[in-house]
Amino acid sequence: MASAENEIPSIIGTAVPRIDGPLKVSGNAIYTADFSFPEMVYAVPVCSTVGKGSITKLDTSHAEKMSGVVAILHRENIGRLYRSAREMTFNAYLDERRPPFENDLIYYNGQYVALAVAGTFEQAQAAAAAVQVVYRSEKPEVDDNLELEGGLEVASSRGDTATAFASAPVKIEETYVTPVETHNPIELHASVSIWDGSKFTLYETTQGVVNHRAVLAQVLGVPIENVRVISRFLGSGFGGKLFPWPHSALAAAASRKLNRPVKLVLSRGMMFSNVGHRPLTQQKVELAATPEGKLVSFQQDYLNHTSILDDYKENCGEATPYLYSVPNLRVASGLVRRNVGTPTAMRGPGAVPGLFATESAMDELAIKLKMDPVEFRLLNEPEKDESNGLPFSSRHFQECLRVGATKFGWSKRNPAVSSMREGDLILGWGTAACSWVAARFPCEANVELRSDGTVRVACATQDIGTGTYTILAQIVSAKTGVPLNRISVVLGDTSLPPGPISGGSMATASVIPAVCAASDQAIATLLFNATKAANSPFSGKAFKELALTNGRIHEKNSPPDNGIPYETLLRNANVSEAKGSGHSEGSFLKQAEKYSTHSFGAHFVEVTWDPGIARLRVRRVVTVIDAGRIINPRPARNQIEGAIVMGIGMALFEETRYDSQTGHPINNNLADYCMAVNADTPEIDVTFLDHPDTVLNEYGARGVGEIGLAGIAPAITAAVYHASGVRIRRLPVQIEDLLGAPA
Ligand code: MOS
Repeated sequence: MASAENEIPSIIGTAVPRIDGPLKVSGNAIYTADFSFPEMVYAVPVCSTVGKGSITKLDTSHAEKMSGVVAILHRENIGRLYRSAREMTFNAYLDERRPPFENDLIYYNGQYVALAVAGTFEQAQAAAAAVQVVYRSEKPEVDDNLELEGGLEVASSRGDTATAFASAPVKIEETYVTPVETHNPIELHASVSIWDGSKFTLYETTQGVVNHRAVLAQVLGVPIENVRVISRFLGSGFGGKLFPWPHSALAAAASRKLNRPVKLVLSRGMMFSNVGHRPLTQQKVELAATPEGKLVSFQQDYLNHTSILDDYKENCGEATPYLYSVPNLRVASGLVRRNVGTPTAMRGPGAVPGLFATESAMDELAIKLKMDPVEFRLLNEPEKDESNGLPFSSRHFQECLRVGATKFGWSKRNPAVSSMREGDLILGWGTAACSWVAARFPCEANVELRSDGTVRVACATQDIGTGTYTILAQIVSAKTGVPLNRISVVLGDTSLPPGPISGGSMATASVIPAVCAASDQAIATLLFNATKAANSPFSGKAFKELALTNGRIHEKNSPPDNGIPYETLLRNANVSEAKGSGHSEGSFLKQAEKYSTHSFGAHFVEVTWDPGIARLRVRRVVTVIDAGRIINPRPARNQIEGAIVMGIGMALFEETRYDSQTGHPINNNLADYCMAVNADTPEIDVTFLDHPDTVLNEYGARGVGEIGLAGIAPAITAAVYHASGVRIRRLPVQIEDLLGAPA
């Protein structure tokens, strides 16, 4: 085919620009909220202004008479909406199980209670504001101090932490808190629904069109083939768009009820109430070591808040059982209910808040041991995954630490607090590890070698801004030798072969085997046809003797230049295309029996603390990532850099706060909810180790969307401690926390 066996074509690993870039920079990429159709109407939800209670009266009479209003929809007139049945897979998964308007009870502030539909967005907005709702209101529970009722559930355990900790010579016991964080992709959540009398076409902001279709079919009570979901481009999701939210059901139900296309775009304020958040976590870590720095006991007991309606667990112990070698370990967790919308996965769910706690504890124990924190981590490297006894498929964590330390200049660090100065500035240097699971979802794909000289690859996964369009084109180019500008990639539509959610940093690892198999089959079909077509120069040859190289069909024992372009053969044979289909299984069960598959990394951070004017800045970040082979270093670097910037927001700025009387998220806008922006962005140096992990797929790629965010916050707070002597155990760092620090 394109290359000798076992040799990976150079397009894999080449930093090519995104193939969808020109569409985006020219404004020709059509995002969900951009779709408009004849007769379309606009829907604006009415949101509860109380955080707990019930609706006693809903008066729509005034709103209904307003200019342009088509309908005010609510529980009694929108039509039936069902609960999606619980499944144990990601085939039909959603976070908020209660369909909108199911009853008159209010579970959280902002909950949808009615839907105004009108000819323009402004008319719908005015009508929504004019709907009069009377509530029986109770004080909502939104306290941010979590206390467990009942026992903890053990997620992982080995040895006996209680005994080991009690007798350990060097130990710490601390509680770490991460706040509620809200996903804030620039693109607002949106749904545009068309009902044709029997079928729905839903344009959605989703990280998973296939899952979205399965859920909406159940919620709407129609056969799955009567729902088509389309998401061509996404202005990021960060997990908030992984699974369907109630507004999607509202838009669809309204389009069915009114027999008109309906567009519903959330406000930024609604983004803070109705479409998930990273929950508050409170994590107690008990960590103990020998005086020489060998870990003897690691216990992580954590709580996270969830909603009244759903059991969302933030898997804070994701990395704990396998990251270090330690004979005694326990991870246990519990849920505490609050009157908030249901939390959901946010970039690196579990690992990101979890590693804030555990990596902070590692830093604190290293200080107590008077050990260098890099040396301390190197010393506790496991030989295998001690939680299950399995070998790691590929683990280069120590190399991440060593390469990062060298690039950063870590050996010049003076460990004494506030000892490194530069004029008025005190420098703080901190480090932390990161890790993230690697696995595959099932995937199908089609590849067509077409008689017009193009190759088309199609899969119902989607590109959420991460580079998936380009990755698929690279895989097909690697297999066929056809250049990228002749490859068209079609994604984001459930009419295509089913593909994975863009989640868990697993899309790349998932699509590679299916697209490779589809390409191989398309090539085999082509070569078989080359031997059969009457006017083919290869007529009568055995197809196994033929190959496709650089887009040319030739005999294996003869150079490609002696062959003919595949499109010439197809045209001469009057065949429009040679097609192949590929399918690959998910890896959760299969590889989990043989290998522990994870990505690893290390961050090194420099902060500057200016005590005279109380200014804290992150000035420099060096990150080294071991995520298998990197298919395209450009979007990969973009992922890690973006994650680092997001990590600066997590460490220093982000926190969603609720009003104690109403449960309203009081900073639900981009002025009051601070995020890291360009001015906060330091010099960032990203290195990929690029060791292929062929357990996951033939190119050895794992995935990079999330790992870069894990570990940034504890590296920053370690650096803050080194600069100021103040240990921050509750994020985000507040300047007030540092005001007592010695100058
Ligand atoms: Mo990611 S939180 O799986 O979008």
